Parts: sequence; structure tokens; C-alpha cells
Amino acid sequence: MNGERGVGDAAATLFPFPEGWYFVASQRSLAKEKLLERQWLGRNIVTWSDDDGSVCVADSVCPHMGSALGPTVGGRVRDGCLVCPFHGFTYDITGNCVATPFAPPPRSLTLNVYDTRVIQGLIFGWWSDTGRPPQWDLPDAPPAEDDWCDLEIRTVRFPGHVQEIAENSVDLAHLRYVHGYNNVQPVGTTTVEGSYLLARFDFTRRRPIAGFIDSVYRISAAAHVYGLGYSFVDVQEHSIGMDLRLWVLATPVDGTLVDLSLASQIREIRRPKRLIVGLGFLPPRWRTRIMNRLVVSAQMQDVQQDVVIWQRRQHRPNPRLSRADGDIGRYRRYCRQFYPQDRASEDG
Ligand code: FES
Ligand SMILES: [Fe+2]
Repeated sequence: MNGERGVGDAAATLFPFPEGWYFVASQRSLAKEKLLERQWLGRNIVTWSDDDGSVCVADSVCPHMGSALGPTVGGRVRDGCLVCPFHGFTYDITGNCVATPFAPPPRSLTLNVYDTRVIQGLIFGWWSDTGRPPQWDLPDAPPAEDDWCDLEIRTVRFPGHVQEIAENSVDLAHLRYVHGYNNVQPVGTTTVEGSYLLARFDFTRRRPIAGFIDSVYRISAAAHVYGLGYSFVDVQEHSIGMDLRLWVLATPVDGTLVDLSLASQIREIRRPKRLIVGLGFLPPRWRTRIMNRLVVSAQMQDVQQDVVIWQRRQHRPNPRLSRADGDIGRYRRYCRQFYPQDRASEDG
């Protein structure tokens, strides 16, 4: 998607790489590619895993003589280690140089690696511009029950800022105005505990299924936000009786662009409370998988509506709010902790 962000917009006034955990890739894509290279928080990184499934996320810079390490340059994984394309120095999953082709490895030669977490097959890396170690942990994966379908993951890239993306979880007015949800009701107030923010709301939405029959969905959602790169939304749809898990993962790419990934899974719908148009004849497992695809496609349509706004939006540090806006002020105060460099200058 094209679109320049001009002077005075969010990218210009908010530091583009706030501290936090950010999505890198799925284990599924890593299993397929073996060695991944990505632009992530303004760095070039590589990701691979050893035979036990431990994952390494590292800067794509060989500490020997500076070669890039990604597959497009010739980097490869051998016996769970990353081999540099330039002189064949070999790095294990902790980033240590463990072998070279012609001599013992130089002592304490290590890749710059990032702390990682894997949740539900999604790989995250810890980012801090000031080099601080992880300031909080991500939550445990939800219970591994086998009636949840595989994750369906979609990613869209656009000019934007991660703070503004997560802000939409508490911006209830936009749910009505941009997405056309009805009866949007906050459930309790937004709560904040350190890096964790919880916002709950109910709403209804009308959607054509398969493009022709209008259906009304009654939805309760709880957005569990752990920093600006990780939101987990727990959704119950009451008219069919459908449970949905949705991860909303925003990752700064290069200071201007953001990757927004949605990862969705739903629980097997054995006894739908009402007819699921066109899907009723399928076995539950298939029905669930197709339903999950429909749901994530619908979510992506919502995201596309947001992107139109996000990519041209100017950041307003002190917005003039109305009573219908939701807990934007609390959210903005919550966000300050993710800019430790700004806080140091404020404190000083
Ligand atoms: S630059 Fe990587 S082995 Fe020499
Ligand atoms: Fe939205």
C-alpha cells in the first residue's frame, strides 16, 4: 500500500520503535523456510530454530566481518546452526560462534540476539532501543485444547504507528463510525496494571454471509493488551455460540511502515445455536476451519477500513475528547512507559 506520511504526522512525532515484544514470524513459516530474514524495528534480522524447536532471533550481521546472514545472501542452517555465507563461521541457537572452516572459533564471538518467546506457534522478540532487558513477560499461551482449529494468519503492511493501532482497542466511537458496529457498550472501565491493559466491550454487527444473506452477530470482546505489539482479543459470539481467539500483532518495520498481523482461531462449533448458512452440511472440523477463514477475512476488511485512516493520520498528543470516545486518555498515559528515553528526559 502506498502513501507518504508527512511532517507532523505520528511517525514524525512519536518515536517509531517503542519498547516491547514484537511479532517476528510463525513457527509454521519458519518450518517451511528454515531461515527467515525480516526487516523488524528498523533492523535486518534472521530467525532460525534448532532441531529441538528452540528459536533464535538475531541481527543479520556477522560479527566476524559484517556479512549479512539471510538466505538471499547465502546464509543457511546446518545441524541447527546458522552458517555465514562469507567465511563459513557457524553460530548456535544462543548466538555463539561454535565453529569456523579453517581454525578454532575466536573466543566470545557472538551474534547480537534478541530475547524470544513463542506463544501458540507465534514467535516474538523483545525490543528495547535503550538496550533494557525484557520489562515484562508475555502471557502464557491459552489452554491447548484440541477443539480449536489451526491459526489463520494474515498480514498487511502500511505507513503507520503501533501506538495508534493498539489505540483502536479503546476507541469505541470508531467501532460504530468506521466499522458500523451497533450497540457498542463498554463493559466496566479499562484497567491498567503495569504493561497490561484490559478493555471489554459488547456490540452487535450485521454482516452478509457469503455476500448475500444478512446475519446479525452479538459479540462480547475482551482485549488483553501487553504493550504496543501484542494484543489478544478473546471473543464470544452469542447468536451462533462461537468462541474466537484473535491476536492483533503490530510490528514496526522501518520507522515508517508497520506490519499488522491477525492470527485467528475458533473453537469447533458442534451444535450451532442457529443455522450457519451454507456450512451446515460440513463436518464440524471443516465447518470450523472455513468459518475461521470467513472470520479473519471479515477482520481484514475492518483492518482495511482502519488503514485508510491510520496511514494519513496526524498524531495529536493532547486530543480534545468527547464523552463518547472511550478511555483514550488512560490509554495514552499507559503508553508512556514504552518510551523510556522520553521518560528519562522528563525525569531529568
Ligand atoms: S563475515 Fe561471516 S564468516 Fe566472515
Ligand atoms: Fe478498527
